[in-house]
Amino acid sequence: MLDQLNQLEEKALAALEATKDSDALAEWNRRYLGKKGVLTLMLRSVGELPRDERPAFGRAANGVKVKLEAAYEAQEQALRRAELARELEQGALDVTLPGRPVGPGHLHITTQTLRQIYAIFAEMGFQVYESPEIETDELNFGLLNMPPHHPARDMWDTFWIGEEALLRTHTSPGQIRVMRERANTTCSDPEPIRVILPGKCYRYEQITARSEHQFYQVEGLAVGHGITLTDLIGALTEFARRLYGPERKIRIRGSYFPFTEPSIEADMDCILCGGEGCRVCKYSGWLEIGGAGMVHPVVLRNGGYDPAEWSGFAFGLGVERPAMLKYNIDDIRLFYGNDLRFLRQF
Ligand code: DAH
Repeated sequence: MLDQLNQLEEKALAALEATKDSDALAEWNRRYLGKKGVLTLMLRSVGELPRDERPAFGRAANGVKVKLEAAYEAQEQALRRAELARELEQGALDVTLPGRPVGPGHLHITTQTLRQIYAIFAEMGFQVYESPEIETDELNFGLLNMPPHHPARDMWDTFWIGEEALLRTHTSPGQIRVMRERANTTCSDPEPIRVILPGKCYRYEQITARSEHQFYQVEGLAVGHGITLTDLIGALTEFARRLYGPERKIRIRGSYFPFTEPSIEADMDCILCGGEGCRVCKYSGWLEIGGAGMVHPVVLRNGGYDPAEWSGFAFGLGVERPAMLKYNIDDIRLFYGNDLRFLRQF
């Protein structure tokens, strides 16, 4: 019996050495160490031996088992190492090759448009003032003359963050922030204001080729003594002519916004057809530039300016739309879709 055991060990070790891959290794394991493996069966047959031979045989058989198991593990590792070496050699990766170069980036088309707008208004004396994208209900609506439940709130589909906070639906709340800052300077009197407030706005809207749920606006605000609607129309006309060419004509329509009185909407003659009528201007000959108006007395007061002494104008311009017109882009979703094939064109 012990001889048999020794033979088995020799044979098993030789067979193990001959295994060349993991399949052969698994087969070997089944054959010698598995439930019905040769060694297992031999161990089980210990009961058939005379009683006094059993302990010696058991000890020897267990010794062989331990040895075979260790040899199995060693062979498994050797095979794995050989396989890795083979893989490395076959799929050789030359880590000394230079990588793909990351070229310098450039300004996003929206940033470029914004900077053009800044430059135009800077020459008219407007500073850039930034205000937060997360606003309170009070600033986005309440202080802009829309108390809770005011029906005009329906003009802005809103992403709410809890009860009080929201993603600003327009840049207009910045008007209150600037006024409150400039009304409370160390000098006793409020300061006149001439600022633009650029930034991202959000609306809970279905995304289509014409409307996004995130977009940029540039708000304008001028507050001073004796500012009139004529000043507003002058500023908007100058803006349109600087951006689209000196021949542009401006048209003013009456409109409604809760934070301006009177409220207007400004259009310019279509830059594509010159007013003849085409697909872009929907055959009206006019393109909308933005909403505007004289700052409502309630809003002036909320900002800390006495409407008996101060007056002002405000406007809200889109940013993507002018860029779409200028470059003939027919889908607003391209702006923030992060497709480099689109972005690299500008
Ligand atoms: N906040 C308005 C909007 O998002 C645009 C606007 C209209 C801004 C008139 C103004 C304004 O400052 O006077 O629809």
